[in-house]
Order: sequence, then structure tokens, then C-alpha cells
Amino acid sequence: MHYRSAKVRPPKPIIIVHGGAGDWPSELHKQGLRGVRIAAHRGFRVLSKQGSALDAVEAGIVAMEDNPVFNAGRGSTLNLVGEIETDAAIMDGRTLQGAGVALLRDIKNPIKVARIVMDKTDHVLIAGAAARQLALAGGLAKSDLRVSKRVKAWKEGLHKLKNNKVQYLSGTSPEILHRFLAKSSDTVGALALDNDGDVAAACSTGGVSLKLPGRIGDSAVLGAGLYADNKSGAATATGIGEQAMRLVISKAACDLMRHRKAVSAATKVIRYSTRALGLGTGLIALDRLGRYAVAHNTRNLCWAARTVDGSTAKMFGTRVRS
Ligand code: GLY
Repeated sequence: MHYRSAKVRPPKPIIIVHGGAGDWPSELHKQGLRGVRIAAHRGFRVLSKQGSALDAVEAGIVAMEDNPVFNAGRGSTLNLVGEIETDAAIMDGRTLQGAGVALLRDIKNPIKVARIVMDKTDHVLIAGAAARQLALAGGLAKSDLRVSKRVKAWKEGLHKLKNNKVQYLSGTSPEILHRFLAKSSDTVGALALDNDGDVAAACSTGGVSLKLPGRIGDSAVLGAGLYADNKSGAATATGIGEQAMRLVISKAACDLMRHRKAVSAATKVIRYSTRALGLGTGLIALDRLGRYAVAHNTRNLCWAARTVDGSTAKMFGTRVRS
């Protein structure tokens, strides 16, 4: 979007990031808020140097993938058999180009692989060994993404599964998920509006812990985990991926933002999600005029926003539980 007329002032650049919906026990608040603040700062630095919204959201996500506090990149949760399988996606609201990657095990920054798929292929979703090959061909770094707190949580989770006679998590009822995942958080996301008025969205995750191997969540899928369109705005989801996919929740929020402010769109879709599918979802939204919103039916959602006027970081937004 370009603003050539002297009468039409471009909106101020802004970035909003989240570090996941979930319980977020109080002992993790400080680290979580620090992490999202740093991510928002990194993304905003790109915007303040006249960089694109697309580069800004990528920078914000990289900061969170590199921070083991979050369930993305290094620090991702483990699946049922104790392996890491990460998903990520990125989307450009100016061109509607976007792409996701899934089931990556040892690539340091999955979001950079999504960017390669978007920039260098005609496809919108590449998974597994082929995605890894693209990453390595693109010169991306490999890394062991496993951290000890996730291995400990995996062992405890397996034990609980056995005691509760549950075979695996994700897709199971939100009540069971909530009981199992009480101490976890989910997914990172970023939305930005740049000096040209263009919007972008990105997200990255280790997915739901104890998921079946091969399970792909919303964070790899345009429309579900994220969406961006200059005509409306950008949105990205967090929480139980199966819910976000069933409701195509990020696209739904963007469609609403054609005629509504971000806050109205975000609360409407989360209210609908609660009614239709129960608890377990969060969303951040940014409309094309730079107004943002955070809505969730989980206990917390860790987020930060940065504009030229200052920054905000919080552990919750608008809680929409009915
Ligand atoms: N929201 C991330 C996932 O369910 O995989």
C-alpha cells in the first residue's frame, strides 16, 4: 500500500508479538515478558530503519525461536515419542504471498525456512525431509532444539498419560488438554505494519506436547495459524492448533477487520471459538490502521507491542471465556 497523496497520512509503524497462550505459571512471567519485549524491539528496529513488515515479523520470531522460554525453535516441546517436530509460517499482506513448513527437527530457525519456501518456490506448504533439504540448501543453521525442561516435562507427561489412560494429546478434549498442559505455553507469533502501510504475519511452534508423530498444527497453515491482507490487517493464532484449523480463525479475524476494528474482530472470533469448540485458543490481531488487539479464552497470553510512541508488554489481553 503506498500513500502518495499529501492528504492521506500513512499509519505509524507498529509490531505486536506474542509468546503463546496458556497457563503461564507466575514463576515464568518475568522471563516470558522479557522475551516478548526483546522480540518486539528487534522487529521494531527493522521498521524504524524503513524495513518491511515482512522482515520485521521474521526478526521478531527469530528472537523468540532463539529463546528457550518459548515453545518454538530452541525450547520446543516434545512429541509422544520424545522427538521435536516444529512448524512455522509467514505471510505478506501486500502480495498475499505466504508459506508454511512443518515437521522440521533440527533447523535452528524454522521461520527462515518458511521465508525460503515463500520467496523461492511456488508452494505454500512443505513438510519434513524436503523442508529440511531446502533449509540446508539455503545455508540455514542446524541446531539441537531440545532443552532439559522440555525433556523433564515429556517424561512427566508420559507418566500422566499412562495414569489417565489417554493415548496422546492434541485433538483430544480441551478439558483433558488443559489438565495436561497446565504448565506449558504455546507458539510464538508476530504481526507488523510498516511505513508503507503494508502488513505481515508470522508464527512458529513446537506444537502441542505429546502429539502424535507427524501431526501438523495451525502454525504451518495460512488462514488458520496466521493471515495477512493489506485490505484488512493481520492476525495470528495460538493454542490448540486443531481448533484454529477447524475455524480457519486467522482468516476469519482478517475478514472481520475489513469493516471492524482489531479489537472487535479478535473478541468476536474468540467468543465464537469458545462457544463452538471450548477453551484453548488465543489470537492477536492488527488492523490496517495500526490498531491492535489480544483476545484469548486461556488463562494467559504473553504479548508485547512497540510503536514510535512506546511499548507495552502484558501477560493477558481481553479474556473471552463465554
Ligand atoms: N498452535 C500450535 C499447535 O497447535 O501446533
